[in-house]
Parts: sequence; C-alpha cells; structure tokens
Amino acid sequence: MAVNPFHYGTPASGDFFTGREQELAALTSRVRNGINVVVTAPRRYGKTSLLERACAELTRSRAAIVRINVLQCPDLATLAAKLASETYSLPGGTWRRARHAVPEFLRRFRVTPIITFDEGGHPTFLFSPGLSGPRADELVADVYAILSSLSAKRPAALVLDEFQAVPELGPHLPSLLKALADEHPQVSLVLAGSRRHLMEELVLNTGAPLYNMAERIALGPIDPPTMEAFLVARADSAGKPMSRSAAGELVALAGPVPHDIQRLAYETFDAAGRRINSDDVVAGLERIVMHEASAYSDRFSRLGIGQRRVLQALAERSPLEQPYTAEFARRVGYAGPPGVRRAVIALEDDELVESRANGLVVADPFFAWWLRGLRSGVAPVED
Ligand SMILES: Nc1ncnc2c1ncn2[C@@H]1O[C@H](COP(=O)(O)OP(=O)(O)OP(=O)(O)O)[C@@H](O)[C@H]1O
Ligand SMILES: [Mg+2]
Repeated sequence: MAVNPFHYGTPASGDFFTGREQELAALTSRVRNGINVVVTAPRRYGKTSLLERACAELTRSRAAIVRINVLQCPDLATLAAKLASETYSLPGGTWRRARHAVPEFLRRFRVTPIITFDEGGHPTFLFSPGLSGPRADELVADVYAILSSLSAKRPAALVLDEFQAVPELGPHLPSLLKALADEHPQVSLVLAGSRRHLMEELVLNTGAPLYNMAERIALGPIDPPTMEAFLVARADSAGKPMSRSAAGELVALAGPVPHDIQRLAYETFDAAGRRINSDDVVAGLERIVMHEASAYSDRFSRLGIGQRRVLQALAERSPLEQPYTAEFARRVGYAGPPGVRRAVIALEDDELVESRANGLVVADPFFAWWLRGLRSGVAPVED
C-alpha cells in the first residue's frame, strides 16, 4: 500500500508543510529584530507548525530560542524544568565550553533544580512539585536574563505556544512577562494561542496585561490555489495522481482550516484506487463522519437544547451572516436575539462554532456534515 503523503494531528513539518511564506518571513524578521509578536488563529489553522518552522529556520542561523508549549506544563515546576532544559541547550551559552558545564550553568539561577544525566551525559532538570510562585518567577526572570545576554551576539527569543493557558499556571505570569519584555527589549517574546476570548483578555484588549506590547500576526486560511497545488503534488509524489478538479472539490468541502484539508486528503487518498477523483473525495468524507459518529453524538448530546438547535441551523445554512435577527431566534426556538447570543458565546467557547469573515459557521466541517444528516425533532426552548 502506498505511504500516505498527507498528515494531520500533529504539527506539519518538512514536505507536509506548505504556503505561509509571508507569515514565516514576518515572524522570523520580527524575531531577528527583537520585536514581540502574538500569533493568533482559531484551533488547527497551523500556529504550532508555523512556530516550529520559524524556530527551525532561526536556529539554523544560530539564534537562541527557548520554545515552550504551555499546555504541556501541568504545573509551575514543569514549566521551570522545561525552561531550564531549553536554556541549557542554547547556542552561544558560555557554560557549554566550561569543564563543569552544569555547575557553571546553574550559577545563573537563584533556584536550584535536581539534576539527572541521561546515557549521553545530557542533563535533565527537575524542580520540586511544590515550587512556589516567587521561586518560579525568579527562574523565568533568570532565563530572560540569559537570553538577554545572548542577544548581544545573536537573535534571542522566548516562544510560548498555547499562551492562553498561562494564567492557569500563575495568574501573575502575564504581568511578569510584560515587565521582563520591557526590561530586555532585545529579546523577542513570541506568544501564540487559540481561544479568542482568553487571548483578548491577556494580550489584545485595552487593559490586558500584555496590551500593546506585541505585534499581531493573525493566521488566516492558506490560500486555496496553494493548497490545491500542494494536494496534487503530494498525491503525485506518492504515485496516486489527484485530478485538479478533485483537489478543488476537496478544498471546497473541507473548508479553510488546513487540518481539515489534510485530514480529508488523507482519507481520500486511502479510499481511492489508482487515481484520485471527485467521487473519492466524497468517500473520504464519509469515512471521517463514520469514524467520528459516536464522538459527535456524545458531544451533541451533552449540549443544552438551545445550543443544539443553533448548531443544527448553522450546519444547514452556514456561513450565517446575521445570526442575531428576530427571525433566526424564532427559528431556533428563542424568544429573541439575546438568547441566541448567549448560545453562540457558549458554542464559541467550546470551539464548536467559529466566526469567520463571511459569517458564523460550525467549526468542524465533518461535524457539520454529520449534523445535516440528523432529523431535528427538538422542542422549542424558553428564553
Ligand atoms: N502550513 C501548513 N501546511 C500544510 N498543512 C498544515 C499547515 N499548517 C497546518 N497544517 C495542518 O493543520 C494541522 C494542525 O496544525 P497545527 O498543529 O500547527 O495547528 P495549531 O493552530 O497549532 O492547532 P492547535 O490550536 O490545535 O494547537 C497539521 O497537522 C496539518 O495537517
Ligand atoms: Mg498548536
């Protein structure tokens, strides 16, 4: 069986990555010049893929980059350990040349970790699970100071992916980062995150702790011609040619989110025989909906009745430009637009619904397909 040339689920790298030239150039140039950046996009538009690509490019030119995925840190001690490990490996660190590299490195920190060495003699740093807030703050400040000293000779950046989760680790961390970014202007602070409301509260709104200190790069879709050319070229490279019209149909059916396009391409490739045509795209879509049916059903049944109706209505006629009309409210069983607004906010918070340039949509196109297959028999709700 041919190796599938499409990939989804984890960030896209190497030949699985396409487009984003402008965003990549904007991001790497900002980092090279010590400018702070915030990368925003809904889930699965490719924030982490872009960050990884940019960091790989910068690291090749010997930049000093500490990159952390905040969601992979269940507590402050883990965040501290990851920061210390990443910092230890930075290019240009003078401790790496010292005979006693680790003690030399640790002299830069006010809080001391437990150290273990792997077989290759590489150290792993561990902090006690009870690491207190003030000690963690010192460690973040010490890492920033190291980056700042390295920035005299090379670009330096602290990159925090899934930044919206930072307040759960320490409510004061956003203000601390703001203070450190002000203190060390040569170090670029790069923040990326998805949940729009949270990112607004942290970075984008007036009065947010990090307001006005970072330039925003908002990731949109990858433009359809680039995506279609990518699909055709990847399918070709795996020996199962895809017609141009099938590629067009695939992008149209999956919608603008790169993850959804790659997922549908993956299933379509598997469903097809020797060549990929439009029929195979529909077969691929049906496979996804079949795999996901029980998860969709669970998710749907956990929603309140009003939210279910809004979701179903959106699946039937999205994008919906004007969800807050009396007519739409009546249709989904609310007394008026305020009820719809509350339901939409809750659905957006759950990332089931997304507001796009042309209106409101069900975020997952395969869920929308499943919803369209349902017969609605739900009773109206009171506002
Ligand atoms: N530049 C790209 N080229 C091709 N595919 C991409 C690209 N960026 C993202 N994708 C597709 O989207 C998927 C999700 O990408 P990624 O994990 O980078 O998104 P994300 O915005 O970080 O998502 P999350 O919000 O879940 O963290 C990838 O697995 C891949 O299938
Ligand atoms: Mg990500």
